[in-house]
Amino acid sequence: CGIVGYIGNKDSKEILLKGLEKLEYRGYDSAGIAVMSNEGVQVFKEKGRIADLRKIVDTSVIANAGIGHTRWATHGAPSTRNAHPHRSGTSRFTLVHNGVIENYSELQRDYLQGVELQSDTDTEVIVQMIDLFANEGLSTLEAFCKTLTLLKGSYALALLDEEDNETIYVAKNKSPLLVGLGDMFNVVASDAMAMLQVTDQFVELMDKEIVIVKKDEVTIQNLKGETISRSPYKAELDASDIEKGTYPHYMLKEIDEQPLVMRKIIQKYQDKNGGLSIDSEIVEAITAADRVYIIAAGTSYHAGLVGKQMIEKLAGIPVEVHISSEFGYNMPILSEKPLFVFISQSGETADSRAVLVQVKEMGYPALTITNVPGSTLSREADYTLLLHAGPEIAVASTKAYTAQLAVLAIVAEVSAKSRGREIGFDLVQELGIVANAMEALCDSKEIMEHIAREFLTVTRNAFFIGRAVDYYVCLEGALKLKEISYIQAEGFAGGELKHGTIALIEEGTPVIALATQENVNLSIRGNVKEVAARGANPCIISMKGLETDEDTFVLPVVHEQLTPLISVIPLQLLAYYAALHRDCDVDKPRNLAKSVTVE
Ligand code: G6P
Repeated sequence: CGIVGYIGNKDSKEILLKGLEKLEYRGYDSAGIAVMSNEGVQVFKEKGRIADLRKIVDTSVIANAGIGHTRWATHGAPSTRNAHPHRSGTSRFTLVHNGVIENYSELQRDYLQGVELQSDTDTEVIVQMIDLFANEGLSTLEAFCKTLTLLKGSYALALLDEEDNETIYVAKNKSPLLVGLGDMFNVVASDAMAMLQVTDQFVELMDKEIVIVKKDEVTIQNLKGETISRSPYKAELDASDIEKGTYPHYMLKEIDEQPLVMRKIIQKYQDKNGGLSIDSEIVEAITAADRVYIIAAGTSYHAGLVGKQMIEKLAGIPVEVHISSEFGYNMPILSEKPLFVFISQSGETADSRAVLVQVKEMGYPALTITNVPGSTLSREADYTLLLHAGPEIAVASTKAYTAQLAVLAIVAEVSAKSRGREIGFDLVQELGIVANAMEALCDSKEIMEHIAREFLTVTRNAFFIGRAVDYYVCLEGALKLKEISYIQAEGFAGGELKHGTIALIEEGTPVIALATQENVNLSIRGNVKEVAARGANPCIISMKGLETDEDTFVLPVVHEQLTPLISVIPLQLLAYYAALHRDCDVDKPRNLAKSVTVE
């Protein structure tokens, strides 16, 4: 979910709606705004996208303050009734919330007996409690603080009080939230992107802080009421980076940006001698570790799997890769000197953050590899390496994945060097070759569209098979396809097929096989024969030098440690065109959100 708020001299509606449009990547199953004028608070909410909300907002209302929300449902189905903002029974208070209140049913039982709730959300409990405490005689700020001390879970909150149209009350715990500063206005947002339209000056908030936002004043305080002073920072984002320009979809734009991102990463990590370097403290932390634990979710987890190969092979440091949401239950027996590496495009994924909090409590060092400077995972880890991929808006991650692989390769190379190991190739040069190969692949869109039409337009499922590092890219290729085209897709290790999955192969089932590794080329081709003999429709994507006449597409040559950086591109494009051919919403697939800030 994402939240926004505005208070100032202008009419708030358009600023809130535009802000929500920029936050749609965080969820888009329902949305709403509440605006406050001298006539009180008016709420507009609707199931569906911000575009649907726009249609029902009464444009005649002029209001100088307001809050808004775009939702990714957790408690309660996506519906107008469950959409935010939520109001208290007396209508005095109106609230938007990002996060999950874990003890909402206990709170309801202990404080709200007899109060008839209007929705199935955990959020409504908060606003009803504020109302209750205000009715008992507390000021709004006191009632807000008292409620916050009783909440267990995560929240970014913005609250309106109909009896005071000069204030927005804001609070945060675990969920991201920023305050933006302007001249005779101030704003709040889950992400700076939402408010770049009006300001580039933002103040970070920490957990358990409360902010009293007025048009000409922002007061940050803690739950004890002590005032906190913090200087603003300038958001280094260009508003044009977040537009899609002439592209039909962000995803296609972001796929095309990959060669550029590679070159940017080389430039950002190059030292004055032309070699690659990273902050010496980070190098020390890596080389001091006896084992690296990579923690990530989704696409970033897939990047971690490839990263493990790179770091182990080049630097000789043992690496384990864990899915963040599982780590807490299955914590491995840790080595003596572990280093935790969090990979996250957004830097906000709550599952990963939960692990970060846990390992910090245990006293272990942590490095975050993220695309978003100042994000929660970046702030809370000891060290950060940036991806420099520019804002990624499409829900399906593309350029952030290849950027993660490039940065992991750099980490592997630099760590190898500092441990006195010879890696045997020039990574700067090889990444340059990767960028060129990516360019060639981005130019083969027509072929990819054609392959997608042939293999993936009318099918209910698809399999991706590979061995060694190709297997990890297959996991990512399958994820891309299922995320945006809704074709049931799975990535499998070539050798595992015969142990079960082959039972799913029917006449015409598409099987996309990656063959970029010389040492497994023959075996993966053997697997292709096995599925073809059972009726599958194989699509082989190989690397130049390893190709045969049967292959559907041949990739340009890059260093064998770096093949995932380019073999993923045809898979991204196949997913893109399959989704287009099937009339799916490429940038905003159903049920998903780009940044999942709930566990
Ligand atoms: C969500 C997105 C995925 C993403 C994952 C991890 O589920 O839909 O595309 O890979 O979160 O996100 P992160 O920002 O931590 O890389």
